Amino acid sequence: MPYTKLFPADFLFGAATSSFQIEGHPLVDGAGPSIWTDFIQRKGAILNGDHANLACNHYELWEQDIELMKQLGLKAYRLSISWPRIMPEGEGEINQKGLDFYSNIIDKLIEAGIKPMVTLYHWDLPQALQDKGGWTNPGIIDAFAHYSVVMNKALGDRVTDWITLNEPWVFMHLGMISGIHAPGIKDLGYAAKAYKNILLASSKAISRMRSVNPDHMLGVTCDFTKFDADSDSPADIMAMNKLHDYHNNLFVEPWFKGTIPESANTLFGPHGMKWSDDELTNLVVPIDFLGVNYYRRNVAVAAKDGFLDAQTLPPEGIVTEMDWQVYPDGLYDVLKWVYDTCKVPLYVTENGSAYDYPVVDGRVEDQLRTDYLKSHLEACAKAIRDGVDLRGYYAWSLLDNFEWERGYSKRFGMIHVDYETLERTIKDSGYCYRDLIRKHQAISSKAKNGKTVNDKIEAA
Ligand code: FCB
Repeated sequence: MPYTKLFPADFLFGAATSSFQIEGHPLVDGAGPSIWTDFIQRKGAILNGDHANLACNHYELWEQDIELMKQLGLKAYRLSISWPRIMPEGEGEINQKGLDFYSNIIDKLIEAGIKPMVTLYHWDLPQALQDKGGWTNPGIIDAFAHYSVVMNKALGDRVTDWITLNEPWVFMHLGMISGIHAPGIKDLGYAAKAYKNILLASSKAISRMRSVNPDHMLGVTCDFTKFDADSDSPADIMAMNKLHDYHNNLFVEPWFKGTIPESANTLFGPHGMKWSDDELTNLVVPIDFLGVNYYRRNVAVAAKDGFLDAQTLPPEGIVTEMDWQVYPDGLYDVLKWVYDTCKVPLYVTENGSAYDYPVVDGRVEDQLRTDYLKSHLEACAKAIRDGVDLRGYYAWSLLDNFEWERGYSKRFGMIHVDYETLERTIKDSGYCYRDLIRKHQAISSKAKNGKTVNDKIEAA
């Protein structure tokens, strides 16, 4: 696979997961409820009435899962911390058992030579904070910063890569505007208030962690989609631009430029929040890297009654079981755009595909996922060749897991999980990734010995 030669020797090939989606046992050992433990109990909220009480049982099987990471040869692993395991009330008392759980995982990862990257918030907000207004309560800014510092102090001797929030656009839009995610609210005014606090909370957490551990890499992860226009008509192009601005720029522009994007003003209208000069100053803090989550492309068309006067067309070509169009060139475009816009190092912190392939005689022949993985890694390689400072790729996901409102119906893992027996089986895509990582390692050690690194991209 010659394109592997384009990845720098220290490129981090990893995989990602999130606490609520894999751990199970969300309420044991002193943990408090989260907005997701509550949301799951709402009738009809989750497909097939699925819940995450057991999920992949990573809470008990985490050592086995780290063994599997070793088998894949992963260099890095992105995990998230469940805030309510650490602080059952969201603030105040710290639950030592929660801290120990993550601390033990970190120790084992390091022992295995796998670099941890920690996400502080992957959507499982303590329900106690939701009861006080959740992200709409300005008190959450200090609460989140405080929790971040607690974690940074507890694990900072071993963890140096930190992500404050995972996909703020997604948890704001799906959780507070369309209401299909927890906390299941559909209220633009609510989202407008939350928007401001989400922005300020991440910035404050970064500044506070910076003062504790100035040499750490502190970043945030956003979700990016490639948008194209259905035609050259000015109306369709405007639709594309509006959707791009709303989806891709909503958080990036405030954090990196200190201004609020046009789409936020259009969308929130009279609900839009005022910003004082002080708040705008607090908003823009140095961010060391941006995490890029990328899955798909959307084609935009003008629509008078659509959200922001725009709509997206049903996907064409190869689609995953999420009905998301497979479009690796979009990852290249997104990486270029984000890098040009933010000018900081990037990591692909999530990228992957949902396909359900059975285990047959101990093997999972997930050809379409393997194709997806290879084509998207090739897009990363091209972006690096063309000057993007991309430092790592975290495949979504290590394991099949609880896919939010879709329950267990969508499988993203490179490792198959049998939800009856909890047996894990490495899929062909996982073996392909392992081989690619090995190959890269072999090339890199040769290159280090004085041989040239060939720049040419050939078909895999
Ligand atoms: C992302 C989420 C992740 C997972 C993937 C499929 O938006 O961050 O938890 O659900 O989508």
